[in-house]
Amino acid sequence: KPGAKRQFRIWRGDADGGDLRDYTVEVNEGEVVLDVIHRLQATDAPDLACRWNCKAGKCGSCSMEINGMPKLGCMTRMSTFEENETITVTPLRTFPVIRDLVTDVSFNYEKARETPAFAPPADLAPGDYRMQQVDVERSQEFRKCIECFLCQNVCHVIRDHDENKQAFSGPRYFIRAAELDMHPLDTRTDRKDYAQTEQGLGFCNITKCCTEVCPEHIKITDNGIIPMKERVVDRRYDPLVWLGSKIFRR
Ligand code: SF4
Ligand code: F3S
Ligand code: FES
Repeated sequence: KPGAKRQFRIWRGDADGGDLRDYTVEVNEGEVVLDVIHRLQATDAPDLACRWNCKAGKCGSCSMEINGMPKLGCMTRMSTFEENETITVTPLRTFPVIRDLVTDVSFNYEKARETPAFAPPADLAPGDYRMQQVDVERSQEFRKCIECFLCQNVCHVIRDHDENKQAFSGPRYFIRAAELDMHPLDTRTDRKDYAQTEQGLGFCNITKCCTEVCPEHIKITDNGIIPMKERVVDRRYDPLVWLGSKIFRR
C-alpha cells in the first residue's frame, strides 16, 4: 500500500554505548531500506548517522546489518519483508562503532596496506607488460569487489574474536591474494605462501559465510580461498616449482 506505515528498530549510540530505538515510518512502493533511513533523517531522526554514496550497490558504503544479516542498505528492498515485520537495523558488528550505523572500518585499510603490491619482473618496463586474455579473465571476478566489507564483517574468525584481527587479513584480502596469484606477471611474491604465513589463511575453516553475503556474488571461498589453500606439497620445499607454475601456467 502506498504510504503505509512500517515499524523500524534502529541502533542509536556511539563508542560509549547505545540502544535500539523504535520508529514508525512511511514506506512507498519500490523503496529500499536506505530510502527509509533517508526519510527518517528528514523527519523523526535528523541526527541519525549513516554512510552512503551511490545508492546503486557500487560504492560499498551503506553496509549495515538488517535483521542481523550483513547487507547493503541500498540494495535491500522493503518488499522482501513481511508487512507487519519490525525491521531491525544495526551497525556492522565486527568493527568499532563511531556513531549510529557508521563504523570505523580502518582495520580493512590496514590489511590492504600490509598486502604486498603487484610486483612484475624487475627487468620488465611498464608499457611492456603483456598478458593473454585468458589470464585477464581469470582474475576478473575478484576485481568486481566494491569493498563493502560485508564478508570481513561476517567472518566468524574475527566477528566474535577481536584478538584474531592482528593475525587474520580476512576474505577480502584472500581474494586480493588469489587475484595476484593468478596474474602471470606477479612473479616476485609467492602469494600462497604469503597468505598462509602472513595473512592467516589457516584460520579460515571454509564456513563460506563470506561468499553468502557478497553483494557482487564473488565466489570467495570456492574460487579464491580454496585454490589458495591447495598447495602442491613439493612446492613448500622447492621455490623453483612455484616459479615454474607462474611461467608455464598457460
Ligand atoms: Fe564486499 Fe564481496 Fe568485496 Fe567482500 S568480496 S568486500 S563482500 S564485494
Ligand atoms: Fe571466514 Fe569465509 Fe573462511 S567466512 S572462515 S573467510 S570461508
Ligand atoms: Fe553505494 Fe549502497 S550507497 S553501495
